[in-house]
Amino acid sequence: MAPRDMPKRGKAGSPTGRIALLHALAHIELNAVDLACDIIARFSTLDLPRNYYDDWVKVASEEGLHFSLLSKRLRDLDSFYGELPGHDGLWEASQETAHDLLARLAIVPLVLEARGWMLHPR
Ligand SMILES: [Fe+2]
Repeated sequence: MAPRDMPKRGKAGSPTGRIALLHALAHIELNAVDLACDIIARFSTLDLPRNYYDDWVKVASEEGLHFSLLSKRLRDLDSFYGELPGHDGLWEASQETAHDLLARLAIVPLVLEARGWMLHPR
């Protein structure tokens, strides 16, 4: 969903609020997998050391582990990833920076993550 169309999460600490928060975190982790893989694919023609891309493979793997842990916790709470909508703001940002690796590296961690925007997109 567009970030502005996301429903409000339930009250913090309530069962529905806890599931919504875990779902939002799982969504971020899955986006992190996508973004790491996208960097490898999109910017592989740049003249960068092989280790640079190897590191992104490691990042994708670690983010996948984070997603798996959150996904398991959701199932423990009788939910699952995909039960709730996710916002596409992070992926939109990746598309806007698709032309420039430095822009990509600056926008995602320094702006979106630093502001906590991914959890609170409005
Ligand atoms: Fe993570």
